[in-house]
Amino acid sequence: MAELSIDKFTDSVINAMGPKTSPRVREVMTALIRHMHDFAREVKLTTPEYLAACDFVVRIGKISNDKRNEAILASDIFGLESLVDFLDQAAAPDATPASTSEATSSAILGPFWREQAPELQNGASIVQGGPPGETVFVQGRVFDANGQPLEGAIVNVWETAPNGLYEQQDPDQPNYNLRGQFRTDKDGRYAFRGYRPVAYPIPFDGPAGDLLQMMDRHPYRPSHFHFRVRAPGHQELVTQIFDREDKYVENDSVFAVKDSLIVDFKPAPAGADTKYVVDYDIHLTAAKPETRTAAE
Ligand code: BEZ
Ligand code: FE
Repeated sequence: MAELSIDKFTDSVINAMGPKTSPRVREVMTALIRHMHDFAREVKLTTPEYLAACDFVVRIGKISNDKRNEAILASDIFGLESLVDFLDQAAAPDATPASTSEATSSAILGPFWREQAPELQNGASIVQGGPPGETVFVQGRVFDANGQPLEGAIVNVWETAPNGLYEQQDPDQPNYNLRGQFRTDKDGRYAFRGYRPVAYPIPFDGPAGDLLQMMDRHPYRPSHFHFRVRAPGHQELVTQIFDREDKYVENDSVFAVKDSLIVDFKPAPAGADTKYVVDYDIHLTAAKPETRTAAE
């Protein structure tokens, strides 16, 4: 086999892709190979550093399981999930709905989402047990792309317990604690009770934590609720709302905060059964044509 010349080396690797490679795979792999090679050239990557990086990937695999996704954690530290979220939302065809208000901004899903959260009545509490905290009533309306109230949207919410742990991280919490899904009523309203979220560290006892330490960074996320909102004919919205008073709101370890997602936890009116109230309306956008179901 002819010796590969260093200046043609990257092209040789790219050109090794065969004719059955799909156009999208070819596009992504071409850029990935080019950027990887340019990166190695730029930093003059050494063999020990290359092997350390391979070992890092192996450790990500070994520590991951159905309750812990270290690959997402590590990429979050590099801001990659948040960047992809920005790109996705910027690319959406109806980024601004026809109504006067803007579409609700998205934010990353993170590694702690779970399907099949309990289906609860509007206004119900997502607290099933675990450590106690300060109570909050969260309410709002979901609007469609034309600014009209949307009935039947599914609003899925989740948060950590006041000890900063999601239920799947904490054997002392009931299964699906602090998770719930709610269906909007005819006026587009949803509501639930929960705890005022707390800032928490992303898991830092594995390779993702080593990355943070190497870069002299803290692991904290500002306190937030996660939302995942689904409605037929609409783009699914994955987002988070953040507590304005949290000291990490301008310094999120995974770079997910957007100004429009910062909310106020207002003292609840006298006689209310929670300490705080949060009002948060959600504006969806129309589904991309190819994501509409055949039935619509
Ligand atoms: C979260 O908010 O659940 C999360 C996001 C990114 C990394 C770790 C946790
Ligand atoms: Fe979270």
